[in-house]
Amino acid sequence: MAFFFSTTTTTTTLLPFLGLLSLFLLPPLTTANHRPLVSTPLTFREAPAFRNGESCLSTTIHVAMTLDSNYLRGTMAAVLSILQHSTCPENVVFHFLYVKHEPEVFSSIKSTFPYLNFKAYRFDTKLVRGLISKSIRQALDQPLNYARIYLSDILPTEVTRLIYLDSDLVIVDDIAKLWGVDLKNKVLAAPEYCHANFTNYFTDLFWLDPELPKTFSGRKPCYFNTGVMVIDVEKWRNGNYTRKTEDWMIVQKQRRIYQLGSLPPFLLVLAGNIEPVDHRWNQHGLGGDNIEGKCRGLHPGPISLLHWSGKGKPWLRLDSRKPCNVDHLWAPYDLYRSSKHSFEE
Ligand SMILES: *[C@@H]1O[C@H](CO)[C@@H](O)[C@H](O)[C@H]1NC(C)=O
Ligand SMILES: *[C@@H]1O[C@H](CO)[C@@H](O)[C@H](O)[C@H]1NC(C)=O
Repeated sequence: MAFFFSTTTTTTTLLPFLGLLSLFLLPPLTTANHRPLVSTPLTFREAPAFRNGESCLSTTIHVAMTLDSNYLRGTMAAVLSILQHSTCPENVVFHFLYVKHEPEVFSSIKSTFPYLNFKAYRFDTKLVRGLISKSIRQALDQPLNYARIYLSDILPTEVTRLIYLDSDLVIVDDIAKLWGVDLKNKVLAAPEYCHANFTNYFTDLFWLDPELPKTFSGRKPCYFNTGVMVIDVEKWRNGNYTRKTEDWMIVQKQRRIYQLGSLPPFLLVLAGNIEPVDHRWNQHGLGGDNIEGKCRGLHPGPISLLHWSGKGKPWLRLDSRKPCNVDHLWAPYDLYRSSKHSFEE
């Protein structure tokens, strides 16, 4: 684990609180003459400074996300969406986990969000080496996908509660509402889907085993998505949840008991024992299925968080000029400047 840099916001605001303004109304680029000219393959517009409203108390909302160049465009959009919809954006502290130190990724974050309060930590892939089994989608097998299992070891102990978020989502509501959910003594809270057929997340080898399914005895397991979780970090640590999750990954190494990546071991350990959160906090599956990434529509009901889980990612589909309808909901948070746009501007 390495501790990189954290920035705190002390500079006076250039722009007033812009929460409700569409990005299209913002100036295309705040001048950056004060910064050294760094050539970077990933160029993003600078986001405005988001400031706390007057009613804000000095509480901290800890958000953990992973960081790597492949998903950077998604991470940027997620961060922007969180700040833009927060009443108290300066209360949000981001904890970024990365595998490889890519200087251009960090310079992009710094230049895109000069006022962002964040810390970065290296995730040592040695922790999961030998534990990852091949899943149905290669992208799921990246070690960084497994970093969420180790958060309680990686983050400083003063972080006692944490929101973990995937990088392919945007939040369109105040994250303080998610932060404030009552965990009711549970280690984890997340939207729970009891109508989904839970059987399908595990193979026959699992269900037909005389011992393994007993892990679910005494609880009614329901699917939950591990891309949006509120975690009691102390309870996680004290309950040895990292090791419990690893134990199932070891079983999977010996006999194929599931097809997906880091999700099934979470379900094995925690399904049926989590505190359910309103479904509005994870409108997932917008990336389609894991094989083809077909377009999907929105489920009915109010939405606070849109999640492009599945194979299709909105930035790739928009670039390919064959976006799905839902991808247009992501586009307003896209800070990426293609080289073509740079010339136009
Ligand atoms: C769930 O899926 C399994 C396997 O595909 C099937 O046998 C079972 O009937 C399904 N259960 C429900 C409640 O639909
Ligand atoms: C967690 O692991 C430690 C060390 O292996 C052990 O002493 C402790 O009893 C375990 N706690 C739980 C809740 O399993």
